[in-house]
Amino acid sequence: MRERFRVVGGARLVGRVPVVGAKNSALKLMAIALLARGRTVLTGVPAIMDVETMAELLRRLGAQVDYLPEEGTVAIDVPDRIGHRADYDLVRALRASISVLGPLVARCGEADVAIPGGDAIGSRGLDLHAAGLESLGASVRVERGYLLASAPRGLTGADIELEFPSVGATENILTAAVLARGRTRLDNAAREPEIVDIANLLTAMGARISGAGGSLVEIEGVDELHPVTHRVVPDRIAAGTWAFAAATTRGDVEVVGGIPAHLPVVLDLLTDAGTDVQVTADGFRVVGDPDRRPRSITVATLPYPGFPTDLQPFALAYDAVAEGSAMITENLFEARFRTVQELARLGMEARIDGHHVMVHGRPLLSGAPVEASDIRAGAALVLAGLVADGVTTVGGVHHIDRGYAGFELSLRSLGADVVREPDDSPAPE
Ligand code: UD1
Repeated sequence: MRERFRVVGGARLVGRVPVVGAKNSALKLMAIALLARGRTVLTGVPAIMDVETMAELLRRLGAQVDYLPEEGTVAIDVPDRIGHRADYDLVRALRASISVLGPLVARCGEADVAIPGGDAIGSRGLDLHAAGLESLGASVRVERGYLLASAPRGLTGADIELEFPSVGATENILTAAVLARGRTRLDNAAREPEIVDIANLLTAMGARISGAGGSLVEIEGVDELHPVTHRVVPDRIAAGTWAFAAATTRGDVEVVGGIPAHLPVVLDLLTDAGTDVQVTADGFRVVGDPDRRPRSITVATLPYPGFPTDLQPFALAYDAVAEGSAMITENLFEARFRTVQELARLGMEARIDGHHVMVHGRPLLSGAPVEASDIRAGAALVLAGLVADGVTTVGGVHHIDRGYAGFELSLRSLGADVVREPDDSPAPE
C-alpha cells in the first residue's frame, strides 16, 4: 500500500533529536564482514529497509545474518566458503549492494555483481570501480547485465590514482586491497567520514591501512582478517537534515549524537546566514531567530569536505523561504534537480540553468500535494511543507523510509504536525 505524509505548515521545530549510525556506512560495513570468517557484530545500525535488503544479500552469499532493528545491531556469521554472486533483484533494490564487489574478489577470487540500473539521481557509472580492480590484477568484464571480476591467483597491490574521488570506487578498492599481496597506494581517494569508518573497521579486523580520510591511502595487504564488534559512525546526512530542519523553521533543535566536524561547510554556511550553531556535550544545537528569516545561502556540492550532494535538496527548501536570492550548484549528479519542480509546486521561486538553480526566497510557501523522488528529496519536501501555508501531502514515503527511521515520529517529537496516511491517489508516472 502506498503512503504519504500529511504535513500542516507553521511549526517551529523545538527539542532534541537523536542521530543513529550512518546508512551509507552501515551497509558497507556489512559487506566488509564477508572478508573474515566468523561473527562480526555492528552496533548503532539504523532501523531501515536498506539494512534488511543488505542482510538478505549476505544470506544469499551463505552468511547467517541476525538483524535486530530495535537494538540497532546486526550480527553476521560468515562461513569458510561463501558464494560470489549478487543478484539483480537485490542490487536493483539497493544500489549499495555494489559494495560486495571488493570483498568478494578479495575473499573468493571472483565476483559476479549485477549492474544497478539508472536510478533517480542521474547515471552513476562503475568504470572507476572496474579500473581499480583491474589495477589490482583482476580481469573485469560485463556480461548479461553483470560485472564479472576474476582474480583466480589473488590480487596484487598497485599504485592507483582515481580520476575523481568516488566514494563507492574508493571503498571497493580499499576492501579488495586489504587482502592483496603487497602495498597499494590509492591517490585522490574519497575522504568522507564513512571511508574513515570503513578503514577503522578493517584496521580493527587486522588490516594495515594508513591515511584514510586524506587523499592518499596506503594499504599493506595481509593474509587474513578476523571478525570484531564495531559501532557505526553517526549519520552526518541525518544530522545535517536536522540542522536544516531547525534553520528552515527558525526552530531550536539539539542534534544528539551529531558530529559538527563532519558537517564543516554546512554549519559554517548556516552560521554565516544568521542561524546560531552551538557545540554541546551530546552533539550540537541549531537555533534560528523566530522573528527573522535567515539569509539565503549559496551552495556548490563537492566531494567531502565540500557541501554534500545529499543535503542539496535541503538547501533548496531553506533558500525557498530565506531572505534574498542565492544560487545552488550541483556538481556530482545530473538529475538531482527534480526537487526543484516539486518545490515549485509549493510556490518556490526558482530558475534552473544547467547544473545551477537560482532561488529567490519568499516568506512562506503554499501547501500542495507533492511527490518524493528519492530519500533526501522526500525529506526536504516534508521540511518545505512545514514552512508552507496550509496542508502539504508528500507521496512516495517509501523513499523517505529508506533513509530515516520514523521520520514523522521524530518531527512530531519536535512539535510538527505530520502524520502518515494511506495514499489512494493514482500512482505517479
Ligand atoms: C555515495 C552515497 C551517495 C552520495 C554519493 C556522493 C552511498 C550508498 N551512497 O554514492 O548517497 O550522494 O556517495 O557523496 O554511500 N562515478 C563515475 N564512475 C564510477 C564511480 C562514480 O563516473 O566508477 C561518478 C558518478 O556518476 C557520480 C560521481 O562519480 O557522478 C559520484 O559518485 P560516487 O562518489 O561514487 O557516489 P556513490 O558511491 O555512488
